[in-house]
Amino acid sequence: MEKFTHQIVLFVVLLMNATTGGRSSSLDYLDTAPFEIRPGFLQPSLGLASGNNSTYSYTTHHVWLPGSDISYYGVEATLDVHSFSLEPGQLSEGGVWVISRGDGKPSSANGIQLGWHIYPRLYKDSHTHFYVGWGIGVAKGCFNLNCPGFKKTSPNIAPGDIIHGNKPNITIRILKEKKSGDWHVYYGLNSFPEKVGYFPSSLLPGMIDKPVELRFGGYVSHDKPTPSPPMGNGYVPSSGNATSISSLNLIDANGFHHAVEGDLPFSVSREECYPISDIEYGRFFYGGAGCSD
Ligand SMILES: *[C@@H]1O[C@H](CO)[C@@H](O)[C@H](O)[C@H]1NC(C)=O
Ligand SMILES: *[C@@H]1O[C@H](CO)[C@@H](O)[C@H](O)[C@H]1NC(C)=O
Ligand SMILES: *[C@@H]1O[C@H](CO)[C@@H](O)[C@H](O)[C@H]1NC(C)=O
Ligand SMILES: *[C@@H]1O[C@H](CO)[C@@H](O)[C@H](O)[C@H]1NC(C)=O
Repeated sequence: MEKFTHQIVLFVVLLMNATTGGRSSSLDYLDTAPFEIRPGFLQPSLGLASGNNSTYSYTTHHVWLPGSDISYYGVEATLDVHSFSLEPGQLSEGGVWVISRGDGKPSSANGIQLGWHIYPRLYKDSHTHFYVGWGIGVAKGCFNLNCPGFKKTSPNIAPGDIIHGNKPNITIRILKEKKSGDWHVYYGLNSFPEKVGYFPSSLLPGMIDKPVELRFGGYVSHDKPTPSPPMGNGYVPSSGNATSISSLNLIDANGFHHAVEGDLPFSVSREECYPISDIEYGRFFYGGAGCSD
């Protein structure tokens, strides 16, 4: 009932291909979201030393930017999930981001993110966790159920859960429910996603009645002197063995799914370290072993 797949071609994508000779076009690199830039400001208790300017972070994303004639308010994708032994000070994640940039100043941005990550400072372990997060500006927001915000409705899935299994994949969906404006989160481990809960619309006032930017891919950060961590499974797309995000769908205001059939622009902070492939048939590859910084 809630999933209708419309096989449409995204015209903007075709236009972009026409101007770049087939390779995805690169957007000017934009910071993912304020709450990713300075997680230490967001959750000082995590002890990230971002306040003294020693946290380095890298983003590797494909991006849907809202257009004048078309807007989407959700995304669904299936992500390969990986595990690594990381140290405190390192973070590696794969996921989707929904961002409203407000007036362009970081303080006015609102955003939601979800996916999988390995974040020893947050969990006091190096397991891979399913997570959700929200943020406003640089000072407000958090992950999972660590502060009031996300309303869990599932009796058996909670954000923050460890993802078990051999080569698991997760299918995640976030969408704005038309009537309430709440942002609903779905999650499926090796299977169709079921509802986990929602972010009330009132939590993120900057995302009410505003178009949103949708991003999908990887994000890593580290505090020196710990080295930059692997993104994805640590392989670059050209290896033929990199991690993927597949079955990419954008979801419109009425809840209809639109399979992404063409390419989309990308936003990558260090292509030589953590590159990304084009999107083909709703699937792309991303990641790398690390960066010398
Ligand atoms: C940053 O500040 C924290 C807390 O004061 C300190 O432990 C850490 O060593 C500092 N890092 C750098 C690179 O100065
Ligand atoms: C650290 O701060 C300086 C001065 O504000 C800035 O130029 C530099 O880019 C910062 N480095 C990082 C890694 O954020
Ligand atoms: C996800 O895992 C399920 C169960 O192992 C498998 O059937 C499915 O093909 C996987 N999907 C992807 C995209 O790898
Ligand atoms: C491909 O990547 C997986 C991890 O995702 C790794 O276990 C495997 O050894 C890699 N294969 C090759 C040929 O490098």
